Amino acid sequence: MSAGTRSTTPVLSVRGLSVRFLMPGGRRVAAVTDARFDVAPGECLTLIGESGCGKSVLASALLGLLPGNARTAGSALLGDLDLLTAGERTLARTVRGRLIGLVPQSPAAHLTPVRTVRSQLEETVAALTATRGRAALRAAAEAAAERTAFPADHLDRHPHQLSGGLAQRAATALALVGDAPLLLADEPTTGLDRDLVDRTVDELRRHVDDPGDHGGGRALLMITHDLAAAERIADRVAVMYAGRIVELADAKAFFGAPGPRHPYSRALLQALPDRAFTPVPGMPPELGDLPAGCAFAARCDRATGTCAAPPPAGQVACHHPHVPEDVRA
Ligand SMILES: Nc1ncnc2c1ncn2[C@@H]1O[C@H](COP(=O)(O)OP(=O)(O)OP(=O)(O)O)[C@@H](O)[C@H]1O
Ligand code: SF4
Ligand SMILES: [Mg+2]
Repeated sequence: MSAGTRSTTPVLSVRGLSVRFLMPGGRRVAAVTDARFDVAPGECLTLIGESGCGKSVLASALLGLLPGNARTAGSALLGDLDLLTAGERTLARTVRGRLIGLVPQSPAAHLTPVRTVRSQLEETVAALTATRGRAALRAAAEAAAERTAFPADHLDRHPHQLSGGLAQRAATALALVGDAPLLLADEPTTGLDRDLVDRTVDELRRHVDDPGDHGGGRALLMITHDLAAAERIADRVAVMYAGRIVELADAKAFFGAPGPRHPYSRALLQALPDRAFTPVPGMPPELGDLPAGCAFAARCDRATGTCAAPPPAGQVACHHPHVPEDVRA
């Protein structure tokens, strides 16, 4: 982290965040359970985990974008503001875009369909910065596009004329405009080839390393399936399984030595082509029907009878975590 003399007060502080979806017939889907983490100024925390484990629901909860059948508990402090209890007016006027820059998981759906990328960038620059005047707005929009390698000759296109990768780059460019203390990027590299993945994460990293005009520092919460991108950018890693953060670790220790401590985190890394290339066995459990004990037990080669009880809370939510010696073995 390039903290320098920056404040160590977290930009975002999440405690006991849970999201339940109320389904017809009284069924409850436990999409996020008891999430607890901080993101510090100048820090990038990446959130990883299999599809459907609750990553985007967690992001939506922070932005106040959950559907009507969702119920939240806990707190998520951005400065003094609790994002979970803030009213829609506050969220719309001061949070989304201004305090939290969002790179959404489905960028095409978030871009305005009837407006060109250029006009959306210019409008965002005008709304979020002090830039004024036609020529200055045009130059700022082009500079924003350049940051994410969005080609200048596509700026006058409408979203439906863009490939998935180009829509992704346009959405990232929009999120980097302004001086939001928190950047929330949900799969910002989907549809990009490796060079563009590297370029995008490096740009996100630069954005976070820049303390911003307000001087308080910027933080990045990045959700990704791309573990190579996570390794490239992250200071810390949060691993999510069946709605719970099961491991919070320093990125260097996690991706390098001694490696992850939770059996699920280890299995995720072992599934990578440049490692053992062995998929995690079995399937994740239904979030509407979770066991009382460890939700990973049915897939875990270290499970014992003890695992029928809920794992301990902490950095590694496991009854039998790997210790550095057996991780190295
Ligand atoms: N409105 C809803 N009602 C009921 N269940 C929902 C609703 N929205 C999401 N879910 C459930 O919440 C769970 C978590 O979904 P989420 O989109 O957060 O997964 P994810 O980790 O982001 O997956 P991916 O990596 O594929 O994007 C899923 O099981 C999903 O079916
Ligand atoms: S608590 Fe038990 S079942 Fe769950 S990950 Fe740890 S060892 Fe495996
Ligand atoms: Mg998602």
